[in-house]
Amino acid sequence: AIDPEFEQNREKVDEHDGHAVWGPVDEPEELGIHGTHVAVDFDICLADGACLEDCPVDVFEWVDTPDHPESEIKADPAKEEQCIDCMLCVDVCPVDAIDVDPG
Ligand code: SF4
Ligand code: F3S
Ligand code: ZN
Repeated sequence: AIDPEFEQNREKVDEHDGHAVWGPVDEPEELGIHGTHVAVDFDICLADGACLEDCPVDVFEWVDTPDHPESEIKADPAKEEQCIDCMLCVDVCPVDAIDVDPG
């Protein structure tokens, strides 16, 4: 499961489409966590797709991650600022790859 304390335990190493990337990152097999308010651990996501289907405000978009061992697409929190903290994505992800911090 994603580490809910990732902001303390990881370094912000990059930005992607306006959101943070929390390392370590060593492409293509290690991709880190994308997003902060809505955070997806790309190294855990296996492209189930439930988060994209269920998010009422379409926060997620697929991004290509060729040669990643878990899956070659990931749910990117492209519009995390639109999140309404319903927690559906957290509940439906079968591998607990998503952390939402209503803070
Ligand atoms: Fe979408 Fe709700 Fe998840 Fe926010 S908590 S990203 S609104 S499903
Ligand atoms: Fe990935 Fe979980 Fe969504 S596996 S595609 S973050 S439901
Ligand atoms: Zn991203």
